[in-house]
Amino acid sequence: MSTEKVYPVPAEVASRALIDEAKYKEMYKRSIEDPEGFWAEQANEFMTWFKPFGKVMDYDLKKGHIRFFEGGKTNVSYNCLDRHLETRGDQTAIIFEGDDPNVDAKITYRELHEQVSRLGSAMRDLGIKKGERVCIYMPMIPEAAVAMLACARIGAIHSVVFGGFSPDALKDRIQDSECCAVITADFGKRGGKSVPLRANVDKALASCPSVRNVITVKHVGEEIPWVDGRDVWYHEITAAASADCPPEEMDSEDPLFILYTSGSTGKPKGVLHSTGGYNLFTAITHKYIFDYQEGDVYWCTADVGWVTGHSYIVYGPLTNGATTLMFEGVPSYPDVSRFWQVIDKHQVTIFYTAPTAIRAVMGQGNGPVEKTSRKSLRLLGTVGEPINPEAWEWYYHIVGEERCPIVDTWWQTETGGILITPLPGATALKPGSATLPFFGVNPKVLDTEGKEIDGPCEGILAFDTPWPSMMRTVYGDHDRFISTYFATYPGYYFCGDGCRRDEDGYYWITGRVDDVINVSGHRMGTAEVESALVLHEAVAEAAVVGYPHDIKGQGIYAYVTLMTGVEGTDELKKELNKLVRSEIGPIASLDVIQFAPGLPKTRSGKIMRRILRKIAASEVDALGDTSTLADPSVVSDLIDHCPVLK
Ligand code: WT7
Repeated sequence: MSTEKVYPVPAEVASRALIDEAKYKEMYKRSIEDPEGFWAEQANEFMTWFKPFGKVMDYDLKKGHIRFFEGGKTNVSYNCLDRHLETRGDQTAIIFEGDDPNVDAKITYRELHEQVSRLGSAMRDLGIKKGERVCIYMPMIPEAAVAMLACARIGAIHSVVFGGFSPDALKDRIQDSECCAVITADFGKRGGKSVPLRANVDKALASCPSVRNVITVKHVGEEIPWVDGRDVWYHEITAAASADCPPEEMDSEDPLFILYTSGSTGKPKGVLHSTGGYNLFTAITHKYIFDYQEGDVYWCTADVGWVTGHSYIVYGPLTNGATTLMFEGVPSYPDVSRFWQVIDKHQVTIFYTAPTAIRAVMGQGNGPVEKTSRKSLRLLGTVGEPINPEAWEWYYHIVGEERCPIVDTWWQTETGGILITPLPGATALKPGSATLPFFGVNPKVLDTEGKEIDGPCEGILAFDTPWPSMMRTVYGDHDRFISTYFATYPGYYFCGDGCRRDEDGYYWITGRVDDVINVSGHRMGTAEVESALVLHEAVAEAAVVGYPHDIKGQGIYAYVTLMTGVEGTDELKKELNKLVRSEIGPIASLDVIQFAPGLPKTRSGKIMRRILRKIAASEVDALGDTSTLADPSVVSDLIDHCPVLK
């Protein structure tokens, strides 16, 4: 809105940036008017093709049919490594900063190429074939990137599972895609504590018959159990394998990876991304959105267990020959200055993190920031959830000292890369807005009937044309792909987010319109948490909603109806929390549990979550119509016993 604060692009930023406003407008227009011409040119500029592609794009969104660069042959690991050897073999590809501030390392492109080739050869020696699935369950160490690239090199489809997921969650994911191998580490380290990754794998594998081998990185060095015939050490097999590992020639549409993500219903879905389009889109977005130039040191604080780590720690930056920093630790260890100390230590120029991390360090005051220099920084970014203007302003004024533009990047696991974002040299910023679409991205706002609305408006964010890195299917369930994303509004990709478009055409993401919640930037289906809760014998029914949380963005609020005669004690709350953590992982810790004798239901028995959300958010004056409830009196009981009502 015109009353909102606007930060114009400073002249010196515009003149130094790769793209200024005029160039953005010209390239954007071209990309929308002639997408095939635009994407063909970019695909040849950003990637190396072993064999040129034929048709640039082919799609029918009603059928969930999306194809880019068909007929083209390439290999993502070749684009990330081999082709850089001549020009930048001795340049640092990965800077590793350990959980322990005394541990760090630098890996050149030549070294990374050799490590990836050795692991690729070793995997081939183990009999892993193109098209087979390999699960990667790793801490944030360079070997995680090596494992991803080695899979890409031999055409195996990786499925990275975040190291914070429980053995049960890991098991579900391994089973769903029938992985033939798991690459893991003995232990991970975060905030000074050990995470028993390999022990978790052993628990998961008790019911995963598809897994033939476990490759373990010796990271912490403590004893782990050993299963003969199944287990191999990473360092032993890579030392024994050939450093010559010719990259598999992949079709542009061959799968590159699967990444599980939560939806409104059912178990997490295996989002499948393919080769050519994903490679191009992550590279072009990384270059122009982060204005990546020679000599920059780029740091994205995500974990490779999430899509942000895939696209903007590994694939995008390495395709562009960048120097990318991998951080094993957490922002608060050894103390809350850690981010800024790491920036000074490695002279980071571009820093990309999540609003939840910004809010957490902001809560500790300016001191821990101001005692560091941060002079190397020239650009800041955020991702994962809406950033509240207060956190934006703090990030801009205190962290960036008003010198660094902030790119607030909107995208999803499904989109593969950033779709709505400022370009630092081109876009005036409004705190809290993800601003404008990237090249080739044409957002639409729909009303609840699915009709497009023009001009300034509020509605549902949707897209009627694909971009190269759009997901291609739900692994093993194309019908679910169609019903989740293309059936709600036929002809459109439905992303699940609402948005507002202002008079300058800027987009403001208003949050999910479905039963997905976003806790500290981690996406969770309320149904998943509910399924975990009802496993407990004392629980008759559970309904889970998100509610506003100062640091996490959203917290998890569970309404639990107990079996008749069971008493709702604090002890039981602890047990329920433990159960959810063991079913999903520590990221699913419940913030509030309210024992509720009844839940608000319609006469047909459907839980009215709208009412539960309002109570959890302390908006009891805005409950709306409750007359259709089977028993309206349950509402006042819920309000009377709500532990957080303000
Ligand atoms: C959901 C996707 C994008 C990679 C990490 C999360 C929310 C993401 C923003 C943003 C407002 C955002 C949306 C989206 N989201 N970025 N800049 N502003 N909301 O990926 O786990 O697939 O979650 O995160 O609700 O749908 P994800």
